[in-house]
Amino acid sequence: MHIAMVGSGYVGLVSGACLADFGHTVSCIDTDEKKIEALKAGKMPIYEPGLQELVANNVRQQRLSFSTDLTAAVSGAQAVFIAVGTPSRRGDGHADLTFVYQAARAIAAGLNGFTVVVTKSTVPVGTGDEVERIIREARPDAEFAVVSNPEFLREGAAIDDFKRPDRIVVGVNDERAEAVMKEVYRPLYLNQAPFVITSRRTSELTKYAANAFLATKITFINEIADLCEQVGANVQDVARGIGLDKRIGSKFLHAGPGYGGSCFPKDTQALIKTAQDFGAPIRIVETVSAVNDQRKRAMARKVFAALGGSVRGKTIAVLGLTFKPNTDDMRDSPAISIITALQDGGAQINAFDPEGMDQARHVLDNLTYYYDPYSCCDKADALVIVTEWDAFRALDLDRIKSLLTAPILVDLRNIYEPAELERRDFIYAGVGRGTAPVKS
Ligand SMILES: NC(=O)c1ccc[n+]([C@@H]2O[C@H](COP(=O)([O-])OP(=O)(O)OC[C@H]3O[C@@H](n4cnc5c(N)ncnc54)[C@H](O)[C@@H]3O)[C@@H](O)[C@H]2O)c1
Repeated sequence: MHIAMVGSGYVGLVSGACLADFGHTVSCIDTDEKKIEALKAGKMPIYEPGLQELVANNVRQQRLSFSTDLTAAVSGAQAVFIAVGTPSRRGDGHADLTFVYQAARAIAAGLNGFTVVVTKSTVPVGTGDEVERIIREARPDAEFAVVSNPEFLREGAAIDDFKRPDRIVVGVNDERAEAVMKEVYRPLYLNQAPFVITSRRTSELTKYAANAFLATKITFINEIADLCEQVGANVQDVARGIGLDKRIGSKFLHAGPGYGGSCFPKDTQALIKTAQDFGAPIRIVETVSAVNDQRKRAMARKVFAALGGSVRGKTIAVLGLTFKPNTDDMRDSPAISIITALQDGGAQINAFDPEGMDQARHVLDNLTYYYDPYSCCDKADALVIVTEWDAFRALDLDRIKSLLTAPILVDLRNIYEPAELERRDFIYAGVGRGTAPVKS
């Protein structure tokens, strides 16, 4: 099958490369000429484990190519995916659909024979109807169907998630298009990955419901963590105690500095707006979003407290900048709010991240970057771990202690054991592992 992937970012590039690996011929399109030139030269615009090899292999087999020529790619394709960005619209938090509609207009011009136009971008309910209207208006003669097929991959594990998904959701109102979608995902269909075939609107909403639910789960355990600190309980044990209940499940119960990234913050906002517009506000998600926004900056207070109340004139070493490990994505990373709050408090920041420093330079000012955890800690007054990269899980603590001016470690991901750190005479603060006396 010939497939065009419109948008070659995280989702488009990974999806395109994986679909090529399934045996399809995929043309990845982008309006960003530099990105396409780099991809043609074998340079990945993002860091994602395994992506470079997957792309190189499929380019070599001539199943994967890159271009800015959307019309040519669309005219030869049986399925055209839209995988462009849908950021938060400035001012009101609705999803900004400018790129999706631009893509739809451009696709309309290239349609040739029956084509399935698949929205993979995360889009609000009703966007498929609008994409269909745009194409129909531009090309009343075209034979096409618009399908919703939201993507659930996680950055950092994107290839595995795409190739071994928990489920594939397809929102389709056309039998021919359903058959095309089954052909697109044939290897997964044969492997009996669950297919949820539903209406287009249901599929669009399913993606937002999934992300809002996960954001809620994270926020729930974060608030339980705050309570643990007050009552002298341990959130990791609480999480294990509830997570073993199959109705709850153990994933997404890690207390930390709040969720960030390119999806949860904007998708919860967009769902809130849609729900309000339709007169069915989802108050629980409104609260989740508000609680999470406050939480990120509030994490800086843990650092203030560990340093006796003030960070003015202090140098803080920060390990981990990206919103999670194994990506270079800095979009809405908690590190941004935490570092800004520390700078507002008068601290100098030393920083190290294994992959995120190039991106961090675009969103954070006045940081001193280092190229390994130890030089980052040299003469700093405290160490803060913000992102749980594997490289930070087994630091040489004695060496860290000898480099810091004071043995202070604020571990916002709970990757170290308090008892061990105390044994080594560190002043240690985690999240939700309280030792405070019970209040009567
Ligand atoms: N990043 C994730 O983990 C993830 C996961 C699931 C779903 N999503 C959703 O997938 C969509 C894409 O996200 P992303 O992270 O890949 O975004 P991204 O910003 O990394 O990539 C989007 C790409 O689309 C290109 N583009 C914009 N307009 C275009 C047009 N008219 N024609 C061709 N190319 C165009 C941009 O240049 C950019 O390269 C979003 O709706 C997002 O919410 C993202």
